[in-house]
Amino acid sequence: MLLVLLVPTLTALLPFGHAALPLVINTWAFKNASAAAWRALLSGGSVLDAVEQGCARCQVEQCDGSVGYGGSPDESGETTLDAMIINGDTMEVGAVADLRRIKNAIGVARAVMEHTDHTLLVGESASVFAENMGFIAEDLTTNKSVNILSQWLKGNCQPNYRKNVFPDPSQSCGPYKPRAAVRAKKRPRHGNVRSHDTIGVVALDRNGHLAAGTSTNGLTHKVPGRVGDSPIVGAGAYADSSAGGAAATGDGDVMMRFLPSFLAVELMRAGADPSAACETALSRIKRHYSGFFGAIICANTTGHYGAACNKVPGFSQFHFVVSDSESGSPLLKSVDCI
Ligand code: GLY
Repeated sequence: MLLVLLVPTLTALLPFGHAALPLVINTWAFKNASAAAWRALLSGGSVLDAVEQGCARCQVEQCDGSVGYGGSPDESGETTLDAMIINGDTMEVGAVADLRRIKNAIGVARAVMEHTDHTLLVGESASVFAENMGFIAEDLTTNKSVNILSQWLKGNCQPNYRKNVFPDPSQSCGPYKPRAAVRAKKRPRHGNVRSHDTIGVVALDRNGHLAAGTSTNGLTHKVPGRVGDSPIVGAGAYADSSAGGAAATGDGDVMMRFLPSFLAVELMRAGADPSAACETALSRIKRHYSGFFGAIICANTTGHYGAACNKVPGFSQFHFVVSDSESGSPLLKSVDCI
């Protein structure tokens, strides 16, 4: 009897598995995002619709404060958004970075894909493009983001992401001027687990169509203009319907140097199972940045999926959500970090 009671729980907690297609998998415990993506598929939408709806749900809910408006204000207090969507059949990509004043970043990313021949639009010009495409311009500031900024200013702008400048950025606010670089030991990264919770979604339908996408407001107290991994194809996400899909979350400044989503998909193409592909992609980063904060989800073309994360203080287990036709509702999964 006990076993009967335990089996569904244990199954839900297994880090990898095989889904009855279609499959939606997303980073973190964002169950409503999974449900929104799943509804899109059930109502006849494409895998691109599923990815868009999943990310859009998190933008509206401001998932963990690190997706959507009013989160992660930069040094000037502004929230800026990064997002990307990729069609694994055609390898078309649409992405926006440093998007201002427009809430629906994933929608704008899709508009870049569908209404331009470009891949990535950035900054003010991306916002103008969005307005021309019918997206509403509005202030992304909230009481919470104003509060985060004022606390940071009161605390002498600590932490921040400046180096080799004066005044000393570990003591003072700017404006900063460059000073000669000093050879120092690698500095510990300031980012913590709560400061980079990108939503990444991978969707696969019964006919083998794959798509992936991301949405985030980046990193709190970032230098204005900073763009993370999420809108960079192969870094934040990647999908190729002949191999698999992956999406990453974590310290984008480090992770984007290694294109972990691209690497994981290529490893699956070469026959690695999704969990091994996810682990290897993170191990590559770990060789250079052992203390980086990050995680990745992977799915192959047959509906096998897995995830991996890098163990750092305060982060020993990564949660992600899976919806498939067997469960019919979002299942919370977890993986122990390596
Ligand atoms: N992974 C989100 C970011 O670093 O911007």
